[in-house]
Amino acid sequence: MKCGDVLSDGLNLRPVNFDDRKILFEWRNDSLTRKNSLHTEIVNWEKHCQWFEKILDTHRLFFILEDKYYPVGQVRIDIENGVGTVNYSIAPDKRGFGYGKIILQLCENYLYEQQPSISLRGIVKKDNIASQKIFLSLNYAEKEDDNYFVYEKTALSHYKIKNAISRG
Ligand SMILES: CC(C)(COP(=O)(O)OP(=O)(O)OC[C@H]1O[C@@H](n2cnc3c(N)ncnc32)[C@H](O)[C@@H]1OP(=O)(O)O)[C@@H](O)C(=O)NCCC(=O)NCCS
Repeated sequence: MKCGDVLSDGLNLRPVNFDDRKILFEWRNDSLTRKNSLHTEIVNWEKHCQWFEKILDTHRLFFILEDKYYPVGQVRIDIENGVGTVNYSIAPDKRGFGYGKIILQLCENYLYEQQPSISLRGIVKKDNIASQKIFLSLNYAEKEDDNYFVYEKTALSHYKIKNAISRG
């Protein structure tokens, strides 16, 4: 899959662009997103715009999931020392329909086609059951910390699972 390809079911993972800054601001300050984030404080518009401009200049792995051209969620992977930390959320009115798993799966497929040496990592608070279930269902390995669950996956395990699925 190439980024920007519209899949047959109308789902499309596309790169974030400047026009997304308002919707990303709304999603970022949504109460559940703030509660589930490592940094829980609300961000003001000015700070968001400064952050967003910088990120647009530098970031290659920041996507919006669209369903029939309607934006339903965002995912970003921040890479440091060969580890890509996943940040993702689904629009408040689109939760509960399974988009969280789809956005991670599409982003993972894209990343591993481009950069197979990266390991992926998700850090999930202990009361965020939906996100824990999503990482587990995508076969991430789980480690328990005092306050979080940490999920990890390598390209090797990604391709092992993909091949097993395609062999049936
Ligand atoms: C976390 C989030 C991305 C989940 O996305 P989603 O598409 O709405 O997820 P779903 O509601 O489809 O839930 C995923 C799974 O968890 C299950 N689940 C959800 N809430 C649950 C709960 N309270 N108890 C048990 N299971 C639960 C669902 O039944 C589903 O399981 P299934 O695939 O077996 O049917 C979304 O809630 C969100 O954007 N939250 C705010 C931001 C956030 O938490 N981001 C992740 C930070 S690590």
